[in-house]
This record gives sequence, C-alpha cells and structure tokens, in this order.
Amino acid sequence: MSSKSTLCSIFGIESSSRVDAHYEGARTHLLNSNEILRRTSHEQELYANYIAAGEPAGPTIYSSKGEHFTEVCPSLKHFIDHELKLDLKYFGYMEYSFGLEEHRQILKKLMIRHHELDDELVKPEDFEVGCLMNSTRLIMFDLEWSKYLDEQKPEKIDLVIINTQHNPTGKQWSLDVVNFLMDLAWKHESYLLIDDAYYCVHDPRVEIVNTLKIWLKRLAQHKNSAMATRWLHTHPFGKQFNCNALGMAMISSSPQLMAQLNTFYWHHSYLNGCVNAEILCQWLSKHQHDAEQFIVDNGMEIARKKNFVCQFMEQELSYPSTSLCTGPSTSYLIFEVPLIYSQDSTKKKSEIAEQFSDDLYYATGVMLSGDMFTHAEVAAYVRLHLGSDPANIEEILRRFKAAGLNYHMKHKLGVAPGLAERLLTKLHNLVTS
Ligand SMILES: Cc1ncc(COP(=O)(O)O)c(C=O)c1O
Repeated sequence: MSSKSTLCSIFGIESSSRVDAHYEGARTHLLNSNEILRRTSHEQELYANYIAAGEPAGPTIYSSKGEHFTEVCPSLKHFIDHELKLDLKYFGYMEYSFGLEEHRQILKKLMIRHHELDDELVKPEDFEVGCLMNSTRLIMFDLEWSKYLDEQKPEKIDLVIINTQHNPTGKQWSLDVVNFLMDLAWKHESYLLIDDAYYCVHDPRVEIVNTLKIWLKRLAQHKNSAMATRWLHTHPFGKQFNCNALGMAMISSSPQLMAQLNTFYWHHSYLNGCVNAEILCQWLSKHQHDAEQFIVDNGMEIARKKNFVCQFMEQELSYPSTSLCTGPSTSYLIFEVPLIYSQDSTKKKSEIAEQFSDDLYYATGVMLSGDMFTHAEVAAYVRLHLGSDPANIEEILRRFKAAGLNYHMKHKLGVAPGLAERLLTKLHNLVTS
C-alpha cells in the first residue's frame, strides 16, 4: 500500500523511519513512571505492563483515539518550522472566551465558504462564529449546563446531538435521519448540538450532508422561532489537519447563546491558547490552497486505507464483511471481536470488547480503543484508527496475522510468557495486599 500512497512521502522520510517516529510518539504519550497517576489511564497501565515484559511483539503502535505524529498536515508543519512569526500582541491576557476579533473573522469566512452559506443565512443578529483554543469538548459540556437554566421537565428532551459524519461507525447519516433529529429538537424545543467533528474528514467522492446549512435554512424559514437561540455547531481542526495537539476548533451559534456560553467558560477556564489560534489562522490565511488540498488528499487516503484493511481482514483473517463497519466519513473502522470472545453470555459487550482489545495489545503491541465505543448491546466491537501512516497500517495487519487473529479462531489470543508472569504477579499482589 505504501508505494501508492499520496501522503507517504510527505516529509521525504522513508517509511521505516516514519514507523519509528510513530513508536516514539506513542512512547512519549503513554509513558508515565508514577504508578498512582497511571491508574487513571487504562492505556498507560497497559503500556507499563507491556514495556516491563520487554515489548514481546514489537514497539507499541497507538491506534486508539486518533493519534497523529508523522501525519500532521505537511504544509502546516513546514509553516511552523520555517515561516511562523509571532507578533508580541498575541502573548497578552485574553478577554473573550471565543477568540480575538481578527481570528474570529478569519474562521467566519472559512465556515461560510466550507458550508456554502448564503448571506441571508448568516445575518449578524442570527449567526456568529467563535474560535476555540481548547477544542470542542468544554463547550459541549457548557451547553449541557445551559439546559439547567431552564426548568427541568422529565418528559422533555433537553439536548439533541447530530453527528452526521459519524464516529465510530464512519457512516454518514442520510438527509431523512438528519431531518428527523432536527424535527425532534424542534418539537421539544431542546438544545441542538451539531457535532461536525468529521465534516472535513470524508471521502471526497461521496456527496457530503451539510447539516449546518440544512439547519440554518430551517431557521430562516421560521423567523422568531425559539430555536433561533438554542443551537450550537462545533468543528474541531485536529481531525482534518491531523493536529489535535493544537486544540484548535471553531463554533457557530446565535450571538445570544454564544454570549451565555462565554460567561460559563469564564467561570471554569483560564482563557489561553491565543498563540495556537494565531498559528492556525496565520497558516490558513497564507496557505489556504494547501489546507484545502490536504482535506481532499487525506479524505482519499483514508478511503484507500479502509478498502485495504477490509480486504485484508476478509481475505487473510476470515472476517465476514458484515463484521466490518466502514463508511465515507471519519478516520475509523470498527470491527467485531472474534467469535470465541463473544461466547461468554455473562459478560457485557463492553467488557468483552475490553478483554479482546487488551489481549490484542499484549499479543501484537497494537493498542486499540478497549471498551470505549461499545455502548450498545448489539455486538462487541473495537475501533481502529486509520489516520496513522500507511506503513504503520501495514505493520498493524502483519502483526494481527502473525498473532493468529482470525474471526473464527478456536482459542483466545495468547499472552506472551513474560507478560503473563508479570500480570500474575500483579494479581497475586492485589489479592494478598
Ligand atoms: C464525534 C466527535 N465529536 C467531538 C469530538 C471532540 O473533538 P475535539 O476533542 O477535537 O474537540 C470527537 C473527538 O474524538 C468526536 O469523535
């Protein structure tokens, strides 16, 4: 797969060195020498056990939450290394939670262009854009809080979330589903969160469902509706430019709700990250073409990886296509645990998924998402992140096959002897302490 990849020559680094860079990235994020601190991170605990056993299946490949090291948009990285100049004015204390005026204006233009929003949909009294420097999660929590401003009514739905380009399934919701969810929010006068985390992580050949535009058109047709001030749209940049560490995101909403959220934000957060906002906005202003080209290239690259992994899992690991779930959206693929893991009816699906993904890590050194994404009781599945380097994806599959992973495997994955010993000692210490 590597030779045909559009992105693999991005830094002119050979594929083996890029894999090494991934190992180094994984180590940097997973290493935690303090045992007490580690207890709150399942991943760091697993990593400590695996390292102590001498990394029996090779260095850790971290493919769980959306890890990017060598895959950061090359133009952005090049800009930071060679062109970036930071004016002194960006080092000051920040006054407003949702960014400096100049940054908001840059992002507003981008939002309007990306969502093809006509003038009548973005009137200043109805529509505003904010710049987030701590990504989108805090603002989502704030929205949850704001519902408590209203009197709680048990029969009422407080919040409807639409994540059209859907994580973890990678599917894109149809217009019918999107409209159904909007109707629901409208009927209950609930808050509406349009979670567009993967709007720009999408197969460019598949028409995109533009949820924000659908919503704004609805509002324009129902002037003075209570819903005009009860919606929030979030769009992080970490996924589309593979730069989660910058924490940059944009939101849009009514100015009224944004003002309300500003006061919440003040109470629980230090306003920071203005420098990060300047890095992203300066790059977007100077290299708009590169940014947009990357979105298309990355979308194609992920589509190719999804095909490649599905083919491999079907042909080499005996996976039925119905046990693999992919779609045109996101950088993830989910797959069902092998049948042998599903046989224990006393366990919840999430426990089964966690056991499988822990075993898989100890047997292959590939760290997946554990129980994080099996909330439904339909099937136990794990999520594989495909944003990683193509050479890494090949190494993941090689290790899966070498460890004997197969949908119909007769026995659960074996844990390497050194590791089994260490886990047993740990268990013994727990029981006797
Ligand atoms: C569906 C969805 N929404 C929102 C987020 C939050 O993104 P961020 O942490 O970049 O704000 C994620 C992150 O993984 C996500 O998958």
